[in-house]
Amino acid sequence: MKVLLIGSGGREHALAWALSASPLLTKLYCAPGNAGIAEVAECVPIGAMDFDALVAFAQEKKIEFVVIAPDNPLVGGLWDRFEAVGIRASGPSMAGAILEGSKGFVKDLCEEIGIPTAAYKRFKDAASAKAFADTLGLPVVIKADGLALGKGVIIAETKADAGKAIDFMFEGGFGESGSEVVVEEFMEGEEASFFALSDGENALPLIGAQDHKRAFDGDKGPNTGGMGAYSPAPVLPPPQMQIAMDRFIKPTVAAMAERGRLYQGVMYLGLMMTKDGPKLVEYNCRFGDPECQVMMMRLKSDLLTALIATCDRQLHHLELRWRDDAALTVVMATKGYPGDYAKGSEIRGLEKARAMEGVQIFHAGTAMKDGRLIANGGRVLNVTALGKDVAEARARAYAAVDAIDWPEGFCRRDIGWRALGR
Ligand code: AMP
Ligand code: GLY
Repeated sequence: MKVLLIGSGGREHALAWALSASPLLTKLYCAPGNAGIAEVAECVPIGAMDFDALVAFAQEKKIEFVVIAPDNPLVGGLWDRFEAVGIRASGPSMAGAILEGSKGFVKDLCEEIGIPTAAYKRFKDAASAKAFADTLGLPVVIKADGLALGKGVIIAETKADAGKAIDFMFEGGFGESGSEVVVEEFMEGEEASFFALSDGENALPLIGAQDHKRAFDGDKGPNTGGMGAYSPAPVLPPPQMQIAMDRFIKPTVAAMAERGRLYQGVMYLGLMMTKDGPKLVEYNCRFGDPECQVMMMRLKSDLLTALIATCDRQLHHLELRWRDDAALTVVMATKGYPGDYAKGSEIRGLEKARAMEGVQIFHAGTAMKDGRLIANGGRVLNVTALGKDVAEARARAYAAVDAIDWPEGFCRRDIGWRALGR
């Protein structure tokens, strides 16, 4: 089977690595990919938002299955474009991707079907948003309704900051995504990510993971796309995963089907484990990055078979096997990330690092230039390892980090601290 993978980050490298092991695969393309993905797939220089060129390429190469990994093309309707020309793609459809594309939609859905989440209201003007924020206590959470590159959430510690955040969003600070604003109650607790597959009717659990969103050790500094992750997450033991399936995933799959919003593919549940039980923080319509990297390390079954089953309403016939080992990934980023950073610095020592026991290195923002590997983005490498437990996986991952010679890079040194502190 000829497969086209869309995306260019560490998540996509992990997916490419897992797909390339599939007995069903004959040829893997990736658009646009990166230097690491190029080792397991043929990369083609087409951006993930260039829908016309992606569809034309897939038709020309007679692609039989497409894996759309990032949120932007899914929310923008790329799945529907492939559907229209009869090429199967792992979804969801544009109508289904609203689960990530509109926070207001999700909050209303929670209320209608009884999914636990923070108290909230949706607003189209600043004055009423501020008045409601005043009733919620502090801190208070202000969210732009639409996709804002992961930056559309402001946790305001004071009334003045809440007002500023609301004005900022309505004045277009996050672009179009801020034309509607959600104001919600702050939830206290530990966050965890849980993943499932949906085929539009049936849901199949994947596993849980924990991400580290802040840039610096001790969960300090600005929010990022994620600086590291591990799985399993001790905060999500099997009984909690069962709750995640029964109280969140299954009712959501059913509700989307009832509303005629075809939801096939990955359903990513962001949970806050509060003292009153798990509550929804957000849904995403795709694998997490970097959570996907640790999940692919633990997956023993064939990823391609599972993703195809999501398109064929066959998930109820499938069972996935996972390694008992823990996996942990450390994100190495260019100094300055998530703010301004320079591109083009050289990275050395990867061969030595990836030869270490249990280690895989997924590339996020890399490129080859004159035969040398260079950093080409903010998040650059995901140094990932398996171990018998989180402590061993972490020791192996950091030993590999230390073998990499890249003075212009940095990473957090405390990935996994919550799991080890238990
Ligand atoms: P989101 O884009 O919805 O994932 O939000 C980004 C981050 O903001 C989440 O991962 C949480 O850490 C935090 N967050 C969002 N909503 C809340 C809330 N109601 N209470 C506490 N933290 C929140
Ligand atoms: N790791 C968070 C995300 O992928 O949205």
